[in-house]
Amino acid sequence: MIIQKPLKSKRLVLRSLGAADIGNSYLRWLCDAEIIKYLEVRHTKPSVRQIKRYVKDCNQSENICLAGIFLSKEGTHIGNIKIGPIDWRNRRGEIGILVGEKKYHGKGLALEALNRFASFCFQKLKLHKITAGCYGSNLASVNLFHRGGFQIEGIRPDHWHLGKEWETGVLFGRKRSISRKANNRKKTAGPSR
Ligand SMILES: CC(C)(COP(=O)(O)OP(=O)(O)OC[C@H]1O[C@@H](n2cnc3c(N)ncnc32)[C@H](O)[C@@H]1OP(=O)(O)O)[C@@H](O)C(=O)NCCC(=O)NCCS
Repeated sequence: MIIQKPLKSKRLVLRSLGAADIGNSYLRWLCDAEIIKYLEVRHTKPSVRQIKRYVKDCNQSENICLAGIFLSKEGTHIGNIKIGPIDWRNRRGEIGILVGEKKYHGKGLALEALNRFASFCFQKLKLHKITAGCYGSNLASVNLFHRGGFQIEGIRPDHWHLGKEWETGVLFGRKRSISRKANNRKKTAGPSR
């Protein structure tokens, strides 16, 4: 699915990606062990060709919406956010997010992107609920979804195999009616494993 009009927030622009956006920086993110530690893409060997095919497939799909996260001032592509597959019958979809440029971590940019993209999902795509899942030890992600107004809907023990360890899976959901200010308080620790 293509986003017809770029989504703007205070510091960011979220827009569909084209072939010109896919190059070495995107590939570098997917080869960075720290970035992909909790992502299934770590099991693949990415290439620019494969990323281009992935972006094209997302853009052509009616059930997936992938957006690049760009800094509005500099125009730098710092990451991606995606919803999909969307279950249109039940009006829900799964969100995934990656801020690949590590120097921009911890500045609230993922939260800003998540909130803007969630508004798009509820208002334009008319979804009732957005879901997300992450590893219990991925505190950046747990805290991000918590701060983004998501509720924990389930804990799945020994759900992911990470190195030699079994990891807890945390399932999140945010309903259309829940204000993003609902969880607008600090939280430092994720759920216990
Ligand atoms: C998860 C990720 C998108 C967060 O990006 P970010 O831009 O650093 O996040 P933000 O700065 O918007 O922070 C959002 C919240 O998470 C918290 N957070 C961010 N990084 C954290 C970390 N390493 N440890 C603990 N909390 C962290 C922030 O403190 C903030 O909460 P606060 O406002 O209460 O302080 C980023 O770390 C990333 O891309 N990781 C690799 C890919 C990944 O794991 N994606 C998630 C898959 S489900």
